[in-house]
Amino acid sequence: MTKTKRLLLSAAALSMIALSPLAASAQTADARADAAVKAMTQAEKLQMVFGYFSTNATWMTGGTKNFIFPKEGLPDSAGYVPGIARLGIPAQWETDAGVGVATQRSPTPRLRTALPSGLATSATWNPDTAFAGGAMIGNEARLSGFNVQLAGGMDLVREPRNGRNFEYSGEDPLLAGVITGNEIKGIQSNHIVSTMKHYAFNAQETNRFTIDVKVGDKAARESDLLAFQFAYEIGQPASVMCAYNRVNGAYSCENDWLLNQVLKTDWGFKGYVMSDWGATHSTVAAANAGLDQESGWAFDKSPYFADALKEAVNNGHVSQARLDDMAKRVVWALYATGAVDDPVKGDQSATIDWAGHAKVTQTDAEESLVLLKNNGLLPLAKAAKKIVVIGGHADFGVLSGGGSSQVYAEGWKRFDGEGPDGFPGPLTYYASSPLKGIQARTKASVVFNDGKDPKAAARLARGADMVIVFATQWTGESIDVPDLNLPDNQDALISAVAKANKKTVVVLETGGPVVMPWLANVGAVVEAWYPGTSGGEAIARVLTGEVNPSGRLPVTFPASLDQTPRPKLDGDPKLDDDAHPHTDYDIEGAAIGYKWFDKKSLKPLFPFGYGLSYSTFATSGLSATADGKGAKVSVSVKNTGKVAGSTVTQVYVSPAADAGWEAPKRLGAFAKTALNPGESKTLSLGVDPRLLATYDSASKTWTVKAGDYKVMTGNSATDITATTTIHLDQQTLDVRGK
Ligand code: NOJ
Repeated sequence: MTKTKRLLLSAAALSMIALSPLAASAQTADARADAAVKAMTQAEKLQMVFGYFSTNATWMTGGTKNFIFPKEGLPDSAGYVPGIARLGIPAQWETDAGVGVATQRSPTPRLRTALPSGLATSATWNPDTAFAGGAMIGNEARLSGFNVQLAGGMDLVREPRNGRNFEYSGEDPLLAGVITGNEIKGIQSNHIVSTMKHYAFNAQETNRFTIDVKVGDKAARESDLLAFQFAYEIGQPASVMCAYNRVNGAYSCENDWLLNQVLKTDWGFKGYVMSDWGATHSTVAAANAGLDQESGWAFDKSPYFADALKEAVNNGHVSQARLDDMAKRVVWALYATGAVDDPVKGDQSATIDWAGHAKVTQTDAEESLVLLKNNGLLPLAKAAKKIVVIGGHADFGVLSGGGSSQVYAEGWKRFDGEGPDGFPGPLTYYASSPLKGIQARTKASVVFNDGKDPKAAARLARGADMVIVFATQWTGESIDVPDLNLPDNQDALISAVAKANKKTVVVLETGGPVVMPWLANVGAVVEAWYPGTSGGEAIARVLTGEVNPSGRLPVTFPASLDQTPRPKLDGDPKLDDDAHPHTDYDIEGAAIGYKWFDKKSLKPLFPFGYGLSYSTFATSGLSATADGKGAKVSVSVKNTGKVAGSTVTQVYVSPAADAGWEAPKRLGAFAKTALNPGESKTLSLGVDPRLLATYDSASKTWTVKAGDYKVMTGNSATDITATTTIHLDQQTLDVRGK
């Protein structure tokens, strides 16, 4: 026997031994992951925990080897981790992000379907819609050859100026957790891994690489971490991405409290923690604090989890058991999601069901649009003869948010001179024109003006039966907006147009909350967020009444920045990466958004939960009972108007006497219900006991204090429609809320 033959045979024998326990898919992911790690060489274990950037990003560095993509990776994508063929472990092909299959900056981006922004999906208040969207983009990821989708944006909106609010799900732990959890579940239904990110407190982009967030354990567990906890329980993400920022002194990716204690011990997370790209800062500290995989190492100062980790294990600074655990967590994720048993098969994008996916994103958008004001202008009158549409490139399409999550779609466009030349550009519009959508649905003559010259726009608006101004606010990763005003003189444009014609409707395409100095002078306002690749159709259908708006705000719209916990943003965009700026989230603690406004008796421009309909709805028969350790609520909802539509039942809870809550009330439950005119339904909704409790850091328990609690229904956080009171006995729950 030749030496080569002998070697081949022994390799085959080894893989047989190694494979036998692995092949049995009847075994648990846990057992299979254990067996896989046992069969791995030390080099293979190290290989599992070290990720590459998968893009030829010559613009990043002037072309150092760090940014040359590995040839087995998928070009222009976020990341790649090689597999171990002899053990049947596939490579990890990683793609951004939450609204679809993104492409890193490239002259030839993949063209895929984009959902509305994460915040928009949250505005649907519909977990099924969130799931459907996740399932759709996960399918496109799979058919594009990716088995890890870097989705699941979960940071709460503490800062309305945050440039990435559009990637997240709003300000409330329950709403955000349920929506993001369902998106994750949808993505992973494709047998691929989804992340949940950016863990944690990545609530501003200014100085995101360095900012040190101060937040107490109790407040954290009752707010942002509770949102992550809900999303984790619902979605079971197989991976969590730690954030750039520091939290209480330590970087998120070397933060023992966040990773080892809260995530892995308290919640029992079995998957792996991957770093954000450029968020690994050490070898020993990071590995021992709970980071399992260094991502896109080229963004870090050093390849911390390569030779340095090998050496750290050799000399005992990181234990062998810990390296085994790191590798196990990665492969566990691949077994648990089905990524091993149902491997991706490379580029099959030719088989994507484009028409079906367009419907999914359009439904999401239609449900997400929030009618903020309507003095009867909407739906557009059938008798209108002349409609003037102004601004927002509405003749072409709809805006999307910028950065690594950017999805490019057929016909996308950047308009000359708009947005930055570099990251987080290009400022991208999708070719789904609201103007054309309106024109297709009315007999009126519809003319367009680009809105660049407010005077000319106002002249055209004069005498029209209806004017629709599209206003845009582009936001993107890495930059916060300076204030809440619409950029580029659009407030002046709207004011000028509204002065010329009272019958002005404003459609906003924004990343998050904006102020509206012209509000009193316009007839109607629709918040359309970034509505995705079928957004123009969705907007047209809502404006014309083909679809009855049913979105509700997932975030408070402040009247001014003075009302927020930090009127001035901490940190300075010009600080360098060695700076150590601070921000204090203990100012508001867990009282985020509407809770802060409630506590401080502030009147927002529009409250959390707010949104109008073309119909009217009534609730009746509210009752509540203690149920297990939490509560059960029963309420009937009825469509009392003339058109079919959906309503969002919002249940708020509040202790009658001070129970140490962060704010007077919390959202306890919600449901979205479609009703025909005259139809009614009785809903039964559960309130998770953690939403009735406070967290005690010392004992790691949640306590529901004995006493009376108000259970309320509301049209928003400030419009309570009915109240009932229940008595709850004292309850103690473990850290997982059981
Ligand atoms: C940085 C972003 O913060 C993160 O969300 C993204 O997944 C990675 N880049 C990879 O592109």
